[in-house]
Amino acid sequence: MDSLIRRAVDDLAASEYAIALTGAGMSTESGIPDFRGPSGIWTTNRKAEAQAYRRYELFLNDARTYWEEMLGMRGTCGMFYEEIEKAAPNAGHHALAELEALGVLKCVITQNIDGLHRKAGSKRVLEYHGSVHALRCISCRSRHARDDVCLDVLPPRCICGAALKYDVVHFNEAIPSDVMKESEAEVLRCDLMIICGTSAVVHPFASLPGLARSRPYRSLPNSGIPGHEKGVTIIEVNDEPTPLTHGGVSDCFIRGKTGDLLPAIVEEAKRARSALATEHDPLLRD
Ligand code: APR
Repeated sequence: MDSLIRRAVDDLAASEYAIALTGAGMSTESGIPDFRGPSGIWTTNRKAEAQAYRRYELFLNDARTYWEEMLGMRGTCGMFYEEIEKAAPNAGHHALAELEALGVLKCVITQNIDGLHRKAGSKRVLEYHGSVHALRCISCRSRHARDDVCLDVLPPRCICGAALKYDVVHFNEAIPSDVMKESEAEVLRCDLMIICGTSAVVHPFASLPGLARSRPYRSLPNSGIPGHEKGVTIIEVNDEPTPLTHGGVSDCFIRGKTGDLLPAIVEEAKRARSALATEHDPLLRD
């Protein structure tokens, strides 16, 4: 394990533009269940999963019932939303925020709707599947802080008149174009991607590592995509292998809890950095 941590730190130190892609596994140590892990919401409640697959269509056809269902959530889905309200960032979230503060990590692209990366202090966060703390209008694409919208009358309406929904991307709903565009630009720019706590089975998010791999080694004329001679390094941190592991998309798979492994990577990065400073700074040398 230590050699894998050291390898990840060496890769991070050598990177010019490292980004993180995260999933629900980041938040299980904050008490928020994941979806497909051994005790995940979908693993333990197939009915809830089937209901989730119908939710976007329900919003389109009957926004009032959509809201009554979302607000009246009971069972595992209700618990999921309740846990989000109570949850605090864990050591894994703080570790990614620290890597950003150290100037190593440039962006987090997360599937999580819980807002815990921002709560931990990460500044550049793209919420690929949206946020439970906001509402969105699919007509004029405006977003509204959930606490600023009165829910006494359902469905809540946008100033443009259309019904508002949670700014959460439901199954069969398109990723909002602004987030999709920004995320793809980050993926095409990165030369290191650390993928944490995701089963990597839900597309289009799960296609982002492949998109990074597809980036040309040389900048295509007038493409606006800078070439990147050394290719992209993909590191996976997860407590079980995923299709990215089995498919050879990731270069390195570090098995374990994000709440343990990411802080270990940060500690090793800081140790290596201070060792380097000592080596190169005659004042610090004995
Ligand atoms: N540390 C490391 N890995 C973990 C931890 C942990 N503490 N806890 C869980 N995991 C792993 C699980 O083993 C699993 O492989 O994280 C992964 C979580 O996978 P999913 O539950 O499928 O979550 P995610 O990949 O984010 O799901 C993607 O599916 O239902 C939709 O919209 C939902 O955004 C979600 C999307």
